[in-house]
Amino acid sequence: MRSLFAATALLAVLGSSASAQTVVGSSHDLSDDFTTPDNQVCIYCHAPHNALVAVPLWNHASTAQTFTMYSSSTLDNTIAGQPSSISKQCLSCHDGVTNIDAYGVGAGSENMGTTFPGSGAIMGTNLGNDHPISINYDNTADPGLNAPSGAGVGTLPLFGAGPTYTVECGTCHNTHDQATYGKFLRASNNASSLCLTCHNK
Ligand code: HEC
Ligand code: HEC
Ligand code: HEC
Ligand code: HEC
Repeated sequence: MRSLFAATALLAVLGSSASAQTVVGSSHDLSDDFTTPDNQVCIYCHAPHNALVAVPLWNHASTAQTFTMYSSSTLDNTIAGQPSSISKQCLSCHDGVTNIDAYGVGAGSENMGTTFPGSGAIMGTNLGNDHPISINYDNTADPGLNAPSGAGVGTLPLFGAGPTYTVECGTCHNTHDQATYGKFLRASNNASSLCLTCHNK
């Protein structure tokens, strides 16, 4: 397994094609920052057994913070009072408070706000100045949005149980691939094309 990871990392270093997707060597590869038995990469977020949350076999401590959600007088769609669990998973490191190495049943000791050098990635608890998340994607409520197709819009995934699906962190970001579009984005934002996937502006 480790040699497979090493080979994948090497490919990434060699700058192979844009479609290569790997956590290894990315900012989400924490194996260089902390010590685990076997130098594991996925363990900070997933466990193969006895995961803390069933989907997606989630193994990281959950943030205990209360978040201020986006609000505006022109918002048409319904936004949840607090981030839904899939976005909360991102915020469980990106709140800057919850320990990054708090996985499994361990409490961890380093977070982005203190000892871990990652302050540029801190979102904090005020999401009022960030793109709305845990918000419905309903183009009948807001005709300025392109029509979704089931649990997706264009190539971007929407989340939740439907019939109305929601925009979450994972709609615009792919946790596993930092390299292809930069900043773990799911699609290029060249000429704001990511934005225009949804906004009919
Ligand atoms: C920093 C956290 C993080 C790390 C590290 C991580 N993942 Fe994930 N993974 C997530 C999140 C969040 C989701 C669910 C959100 C989504 O699907 O975009 C997910 C979903 C998945 C899924 C199900 C959905 C899909 O994309 O297929 C698989 C399979 C998966 N991860 C495998 C892995 C493997 C294998 C590794 C290690 C090489 C890994 N992940 C490392 C955060 C992480
Ligand atoms: C286990 C902790 C952890 C989880 C969970 C996590 N991240 Fe991160 N993320 C990090 C760390 C650590 C960095 C690097 C910080 C630094 O060095 O500046 C980072 C960096 C990033 C960056 C900046 C990358 C860049 O190139 O500038 C983005 C974007 C990001 N994460 C998105 C997400 C999203 C979206 C999720 C959920 C789907 C998520 N992260 C879940 C720990 C995490
Ligand atoms: C509607 C799309 C969208 C959603 C939803 C979204 N992001 Fe982003 N995010 C972006 C884009 C685009 C960028 C790159 C901005 C840039 O390069 O200036 C970005 C950048 C980032 C960065 C890097 C910040 C920096 O200054 O380098 C982090 C960390 C991040 N996002 C985390 C998250 C987390 C966590 C969530 C959910 C709470 C989230 N994002 C939701 C589109 C989104
Ligand atoms: C996956 C779809 C999606 C993507 C991608 C997306 N948005 Fe949005 N955005 C939404 C939805 C849904 C709303 C809520 C609209 C409403 O109901 O008024 C929203 C709301 C907004 C708002 C607030 C509108 C208000 O009335 O307060 C702004 C501004 C915005 N988006 C800008 C952007 C920008 C800039 C980008 C690209 C970086 C982007 N969006 C990418 C779906 C998306």
